[in-house]
Order: sequence, then C-alpha cells, then structure tokens
Amino acid sequence: MSTTSDALKIEEVRKELPRLSAEAHSADQLMDNVTHLLFDKMLKYNWVGFYMLEPGADPPMLVLGHFQGAMTPHTRIALNQGICGAAASSGKTVVVDDVRSDPRYLACSVETKSEIVVPIFAHGQVAGELDIDSHFPAAFGFEDRELVEYCAQLVGKRLEQA
Ligand code: SME
Repeated sequence: MSTTSDALKIEEVRKELPRLSAEAHSADQLMDNVTHLLFDKMLKYNWVGFYMLEPGADPPMLVLGHFQGAMTPHTRIALNQGICGAAASSGKTVVVDDVRSDPRYLACSVETKSEIVVPIFAHGQVAGELDIDSHFPAAFGFEDRELVEYCAQLVGKRLEQA
C-alpha cells in the first residue's frame, strides 16, 4: 500500500485554501490557519510548521513560527544546518523519504520517518519555509508536494501585501 496521501483528500484540502487565504487578515494569521488545516486534515502530516528568516540577521537564521505538533528542540536553524537550512539556502523544495538516511537531518521526533520542506518566496527572495514531518516513510508524493508548494505560494503572496 502506498504511504502517500489520498488524492481526493489532497483535492479537498486544496479547495479550502483560497477561502482560507481570502479570510485571513494577515500573513501571520494565514500561516496559523494553514498549520491547523494541514495538521487536522492530512493524517500523515504529523508536524506542520513555518520557519521564517529573522529580519536583518547576519548570518541568516530561520526562526520557528506557527506550528502544530510536538514542540521541537530546533527553534532556530542556521542556513548550513538541517533539511530546513538546505531548502532555504537552495530555494528549492527538499523531500526526504527516509530521514535516517540523510546526514543533513536534524531530529525533531524519534517517530519522524520522512519530511518535506518548501521555501516561501516574497518579492523574489526566500522569506521562510513550510516544513512538514511524517511518521510514515515516503509520505510526500507528487500531489503532496504540489499541495505544500501551493500553501507556500499563498503565504508568499500575502507576505508581499504586508
Ligand atoms: N528536521 C528539520 C528540523 C526541524 S524539525 O523537523 C521540526 C531539519 O532537518 O532541518
């Protein structure tokens, strides 16, 4: 049996996102709502959170923002650390099917088996990222990736309006 998410569920969640974005009064509120939606509806998304680049930090630093799931020890991540740092520094989505086989991985929970991190762009620059962990190996298939990238795009657009 595939461990990726059910396509109908992904479509259902995707359809809720434009309304969620329209109703949010700020990018901050949208990020909070996105974490709740994905965590509540996507059963294999066992930790959902945003890391945002700290304004003016030198060297650049990712700081934990809104999240759902267990508290993580990684509240601040440098760009040369972790899957999170790799996604932010490359500006590319990173999908890890088996976190134990990736030496970059910073452990958040012993239960985590796979992870996706999607950069958020605002005004053409990486502003942060959406990070999702799963207790299931290879939980993030192509449709999951599209869904998470769509969420990141919506947040990026809201950040540009701020
Ligand atoms: N696993 C991430 C760290 C963040 S926790 O997953 C919430 C990483 O390797 O960068």
